[in-house]
Amino acid sequence: MSSDYLLQVNDLKKSYTTDNLILKGISLDIKPGEFVGVLGLSGAGKSTFLRCINRLIEPTSGNILFKKSFITDKDTDNEVMDVCKLNNKELRLLRRKIGMIFQQFNIVKRLTVIDNVLSGSLGYQNAFKSTFRIFSVDDKKKALANLERVGLLSQAYKRADALSGGQQQRVAIARTLMQNPKVILADEPVASLDPKLSREVLGILKKVCKEDGISALVSLHTLELTKIYSDRIIGFQGGYITFDGSADQLNDDEIEKVYTKTGD
Ligand SMILES: Nc1ncnc2c1ncn2[C@@H]1O[C@H](COP(=O)(O)OP(=O)(O)OP(=O)(O)O)[C@@H](O)[C@H]1O
Ligand SMILES: [Mg+2]
Repeated sequence: MSSDYLLQVNDLKKSYTTDNLILKGISLDIKPGEFVGVLGLSGAGKSTFLRCINRLIEPTSGNILFKKSFITDKDTDNEVMDVCKLNNKELRLLRRKIGMIFQQFNIVKRLTVIDNVLSGSLGYQNAFKSTFRIFSVDDKKKALANLERVGLLSQAYKRADALSGGQQQRVAIARTLMQNPKVILADEPVASLDPKLSREVLGILKKVCKEDGISALVSLHTLELTKIYSDRIIGFQGGYITFDGSADQLNDDEIEKVYTKTGD
């Protein structure tokens, strides 16, 4: 694995049923800090791909490599770990380094904003502390700092359901930052938001990723937003990546290739 890459995907295939490959051979490399927009028709396999990366879904074949040093914080030069072969302990370590943001925010509405953010650090706590939600002063300071980063410090002690959708997604971003992720997988993070809030949320997501050198893979429905925010865009079509380039390179011909359904 080249030292430039955080993540390498090689010939990844996924089928849910024996005769139907959804991903037919996906290969790509992601650099640290890269903000990658993921495009494709509904059903193209965007969510499937994102979920294979943290093994919420088991890939059928291929491999997904992370630098070992990114997963364990140990200086291991260029040693890599294959996500498809990790044991349970290694998988837990990996998932700490991969943040996940969902369309529906997945926050706990009856809890306060800060309690939602603090829950992002639970992976690091021992079982007793997690069960009784005992957080250290440092955890609380970090949660408040992350809320400040997403512009919600003044809302910290409100109930989460008192916030707007855009604000709730910003809470989800702050919660993910508690894990100190190396990668954020965001599956349609703004699909439930109006255009103005979508821009606000994507702007904040990109800002924190750039500040912390986090790579992001963000699936989006809107071409316009994808072009504005992505350093790099990948397009899924018919089980393959049919576009991989910059917003400028995504011209009308390329757009058509991503959005035209093939017969197979
Ligand atoms: N758990 C599952 N079991 C069987 N088939 C599935 C499962 N999850 C997804 N699929 C199928 O795999 C294909 C790809 O689905 P996926 O959700 O990855 O697409 P997507 O690009 O994220 O679409 P959307 O834009 O609608 O979110 C679809 O045909 C879907 O029906
Ligand atoms: Mg999807």
